Amino acid sequence: MAKSISFARGAPSLDIVDVEGLRAAADSAFTADPGGMTAYGTAIGYPPLREWIAERHQVAPEQVVVTNGSMQADAFLFDALVQDGDSVIVERPTYDRTLLSLRQRGADVRMVELEPDGIDVAAMERVLSAGARPKLAHIIPNFQNPAGYTLSAEKREVLLELAGNHGFTVFEDDPYVALRFEGAPLPTMLSMDQSESVVYASSFSKTVCPGIRVGYLVGPAEVIARVVKIATHTYISPNMVSQAIVHQFCLSGALERSIENVRNALRERAETLCEALSSELPEARFVKPSGGYFLWIDLPRGTDVGALFEAAAERGVLFVKGSDFVLAGAESSLRIAYSGVTPAEIEEGVKRLAEAYEQVRHAETVDAP
Ligand SMILES: Cc1ncc(COP(=O)(O)O)c(C=O)c1O
Repeated sequence: MAKSISFARGAPSLDIVDVEGLRAAADSAFTADPGGMTAYGTAIGYPPLREWIAERHQVAPEQVVVTNGSMQADAFLFDALVQDGDSVIVERPTYDRTLLSLRQRGADVRMVELEPDGIDVAAMERVLSAGARPKLAHIIPNFQNPAGYTLSAEKREVLLELAGNHGFTVFEDDPYVALRFEGAPLPTMLSMDQSESVVYASSFSKTVCPGIRVGYLVGPAEVIARVVKIATHTYISPNMVSQAIVHQFCLSGALERSIENVRNALRERAETLCEALSSELPEARFVKPSGGYFLWIDLPRGTDVGALFEAAAERGVLFVKGSDFVLAGAESSLRIAYSGVTPAEIEEGVKRLAEAYEQVRHAETVDAP
């Protein structure tokens, strides 16, 4: 079979991981602080990295906890704030792992439609007016996973107002914020918040590498203290070695260089993908991403993306079905991650995807009564 091309994983390809920079950062870390990085440490995370993050977000260190990836941060936050039966608002579609994590905790998940400028706040107001009392609204504000959309400045304000009026926490899940290809960055809801309504998460997975497993939460000191308690009981402390390496990577300027490198590569990949789709698969409807790892495709109504998935897999092309990111529906949609493939692979992958689409469409026409 032809070489496999994966549009499935939201991870960077090896050529955009700064392996040498990480090696140098590890060397510096072992020299600078062998005692600190080899000890158990504490559940708050490696203190110098915690301080670096606090400074970056202009908050007190007590408002930060550094974890093993932001998935761990999410899990701790849900453990702290979400009980069985609690209502939680999420975007539709949303990141499949948080969806699963919330459902496993027995949350009553309410999906609110995601628009190209972010969650439909009018629909959210209707849900709230109808009596929903959510504990949490999970929002991925920049270059959303899976849709690639970004929440507008206006909607950020409305969300904070709704959170203040209805007493819920906005969980701002923001691992892609640094990967903007064009336009001015928007303020985080964390920085706009006046009423301690926001808990913010981010990660070094998408800008450095996922294997390092370093993510974090920023929020009101009281919420963070609860999370730290859960973290202590769970693992004593997160991985100090990784966090000390990330800290040195940040101090040396390698982080900024890595962000620049990843951003430039992703911009080119996104361009190539959009051009290839426009020429090879004109039936695909999508919004050109202005940053991040993902592009969401809607195919004509009635397209069986389950069948497309099989036909693409036969041609060595993988993607994730839209239905994985919702509770029901999205059967004619799919998510393409362009982060792990080169421009040449993208062109080849889209060609094969278009062939798979032709096969599926033809089968549907033949089967039609
Ligand atoms: C929105 C979102 N949150 C969290 C994560 C998990 O990131 P981490 O590798 O930091 O655990 C991802 C990874 O794909 C993501 O897309």
